[in-house]
Amino acid sequence: MSIPIKTGADVDGMRLACRLASEVLDLLAAHVKPGVTTLELDRIAHDHIVHVQGGVPATLGYQPPGYPPYPASLCTSINHQVCHGIPNERALKNGDIVNIDVTVIKDGWHGDNSRMYVVGEGSIAAKRLCQVTYEAMWKGIVKVRPGARLGDIGHAIQAHAEAAGYSVVREFCGHGVGRKFHEEPQVLHYGRPGTLDELKPGMIFTIEPMINAGRREIRELGDGWTIVTKDRSLSAQWEHTVLVTDTGWEVLTLSAGSPPPPDFVPSPASVTA
Ligand code: MF3
Ligand code: CO
Ligand code: CO
Repeated sequence: MSIPIKTGADVDGMRLACRLASEVLDLLAAHVKPGVTTLELDRIAHDHIVHVQGGVPATLGYQPPGYPPYPASLCTSINHQVCHGIPNERALKNGDIVNIDVTVIKDGWHGDNSRMYVVGEGSIAAKRLCQVTYEAMWKGIVKVRPGARLGDIGHAIQAHAEAAGYSVVREFCGHGVGRKFHEEPQVLHYGRPGTLDELKPGMIFTIEPMINAGRREIRELGDGWTIVTKDRSLSAQWEHTVLVTDTGWEVLTLSAGSPPPPDFVPSPASVTA
């Protein structure tokens, strides 16, 4: 099987779906406060996607082989939850960190992204984990260009996370995304430079490292979805959808409220020059 290449109208469709997905995360920022439940956040996101954006929440009813249907429009993964946390009636509390992951389908195209949110005042340790994970995602993004290899991305992410004393979750990876939610390639967040598939213009995939403050081992809860760290250490994740351009990369999941890239990321002008 081969990695899909998007051109012309396909890329325009992806740009729109991805911007909408990012705007859902912008909208939620004002609502993430002590006392709000993740189910309330899910309702806000669902209504916005369906009634304002004219889109479809990709996760609602999503059922890969071997899983129960996913019951919500967001994944909300709190503290030691790594990913795929299911929104519920429990209120967020001061100091929690939460990853909110949303995928919007618009005109058949999928835009997939996630951010970390600190509820109220976070600890130094929690904020450092979120920051280093954000940097790790961007260390991977800046490797993207025609001729680079998937292993270059994984290695850059792993090196940054491990230099900070953290570990990289191995069981979940980034993925090609387009008319399908999950397609080729698999984008590992660890690896060796110069290995795996070569990147070509028009490939679109996510980069979405899950980084643990403690050991990398995980386990799944009885709900069939929620993934937690085995040692109950904190875990963080950020996700962007990225296009391989003729000269480098373009992050598609950007909007007015996107956090700025870290200082080591060259400005878009120098990337496209
Ligand atoms: N959005 C997740 C990803 O980044 C997938 C969530 S699938 C769900 O690939 F069913 F758990 F929602
Ligand atoms: Co994804
Ligand atoms: Co996602």
